[in-house]
Amino acid sequence: MIGPTAAQHEFELADTEFRFISSLVYGHAGIKIDSGKRELVYARLAKRLRALGLDSFVVYCERLRGDAGELRQCINALTTNVTRFFRESHHFDFLRESVIPELVEASVARGRRKARIWSAGCSSGEEPYTIELTLQECPQLRDWDVKILATDLDTGILAKARAGIYPESQIEDIPLALRSNWFRRGTNRHAGLIRVHPNLQQRIFFRHLNLKDAWPMRGPFDVIFCRNVVIYFDKDTQRTLFNRFADMLSDPGYLFLGHSENLHGLSDRFQLVGRTIYRKMH
Ligand SMILES: C[S@@+](CC[C@H](N)C(=O)[O-])C[C@H]1O[C@@H](n2cnc3c(N)ncnc32)[C@H](O)[C@@H]1O
Repeated sequence: MIGPTAAQHEFELADTEFRFISSLVYGHAGIKIDSGKRELVYARLAKRLRALGLDSFVVYCERLRGDAGELRQCINALTTNVTRFFRESHHFDFLRESVIPELVEASVARGRRKARIWSAGCSSGEEPYTIELTLQECPQLRDWDVKILATDLDTGILAKARAGIYPESQIEDIPLALRSNWFRRGTNRHAGLIRVHPNLQQRIFFRHLNLKDAWPMRGPFDVIFCRNVVIYFDKDTQRTLFNRFADMLSDPGYLFLGHSENLHGLSDRFQLVGRTIYRKMH
């Protein structure tokens, strides 16, 4: 075992159990867990063992085989949910300055004033709330039918997203005027917390969705944000996903990826139009 020896750990995570857990998570969620993540797997799942009162990973793996609820808890524990408001802020500038004007222009020919946006892998909600904050800054959309679908595999993080309650320090990246309009400070036992204004939540629909599974929605979407999600997938899973995204996008349609992700060698259905911003071609 790399890092602290098994003897220093409360439980032993042997090769067999580590391989079982990583292939289970890969099979269900597409998330790759290589041997370098062993300590992380241990740290996150040791908490599950304690919570369940189990004394070994062998017993825990047995439990995972027959308990769908625990499998979900295991996957929740192993997802990486790092996110923040206005993360990669150039994406929101592009949305406001290029995508929305193009949509508004296309709406004349289409004869409908409607926008559909999908935040795929929305984590604790900062991304879809930032999308809505950006749309609120677009007066052209005032009487439009707008819906933002926000999905994630991790049921625990989705509950946080729906609640829209964050430590106050997390709104530092939000422009001041937006903060006072759309966030409320907690008082008394909620001191130090802020809550998203319910009006900002009205057009956002949080749903549980595993990107590897069948998708219940028909689309099409005008914009898909899937940022800092595929980085955990292998190339084949990414290729399949990008093809499905292209099928789900309208024309014009845009795909936003995370800063270290790209479509290179994985899809020829998009054209690069900005920093990790892609426009669907066909
Ligand atoms: C690092 S967060 C990115 C959050 C946000 N998009 C951003 O860029 O700030 C990655 C999210 O992808 C989700 N995720 C991982 N695998 C997934 C899958 N197979 N289906 C749906 N969501 C998945 C995780 O639960 C996690 O919340």
